Amino acid sequence: MLGREKIELKTPEQVLAMRKAGLLTYAALNTARSALRPGVTTRELDALAEDVIRSGGGTPNFLGYHGYPATLCISVNHVVVHGIPGDQVLEEGDVVSIDGGCVVDGWHGDSAFTQIVGEPREAADAELVEVTRQALWRGIAALARRGRVGDVGDAVEDAVDGRFGIVDGYTGHGIGTAMHMPPDVLNYRTRDRGPKVRTGMCLAVEPMCTRGGVDTEVLADEWTVVTADGSRAAHWEHTVAVLDDALWVLTAPDGGAEELAPLGVTVPQE
Ligand code: MF3
Ligand code: CO
Repeated sequence: MLGREKIELKTPEQVLAMRKAGLLTYAALNTARSALRPGVTTRELDALAEDVIRSGGGTPNFLGYHGYPATLCISVNHVVVHGIPGDQVLEEGDVVSIDGGCVVDGWHGDSAFTQIVGEPREAADAELVEVTRQALWRGIAALARRGRVGDVGDAVEDAVDGRFGIVDGYTGHGIGTAMHMPPDVLNYRTRDRGPKVRTGMCLAVEPMCTRGGVDTEVLADEWTVVTADGSRAAHWEHTVAVLDDALWVLTAPDGGAEELAPLGVTVPQE
């Protein structure tokens, strides 16, 4: 566990710098989302996102990370995370998770969403996507209580409420001058409550859920993570800053205002 490692706390100026990376990450993902349709290849989506990042003055932070070969991870159907873009042609009903990030002026952003191409094949696919999305926002909202980082896992587990599997072995993380930093942000309840939530913490909250079990395997490419039982999976992620008296979702264009207001959490006005 990373429990005793030092957590990077950001000043308000540093959070503002991270907001740039967050908004550029959003722009890249939103462009890929807009291009999602039957017939598009995952490589085409990756190229669109890379263009947005580079023309916005950023650098893709996945590209070259431990040798990772692309800007985005695009994980289709039973692929949970870290799917490598390539020749795969997307089809109606595919459950597509797109994860991406960038670095701007040395500060990192990281975000993901899942969307079904066209109409879902089964109602449960749409439910999986929506429940995972709600788990993300409830996990984020839990940080506003300024308790322990482990509160995120409680909130995610409560939001999923046993309807779907919560993927084992993959977690959210601290983020800032690197993409992956302490602390781990778990997606389920544990006895270890984790570190205290403090002003200046920046965390990537990222629940991953499946229609089946919690176990995964990594394919021979050493990246692609699939569900062991072949069930379809969803993944949502945002980079969040903890401010003195508020939360700021750095990778959401409205800072998270619309999603967090119903959960009783306010975000700063820009
Ligand atoms: N963005 C992933 C995460 O959410 C990490 C991707 S690893 C990479 O933490 F190598 F693909 F970049
Ligand atoms: Co992440």
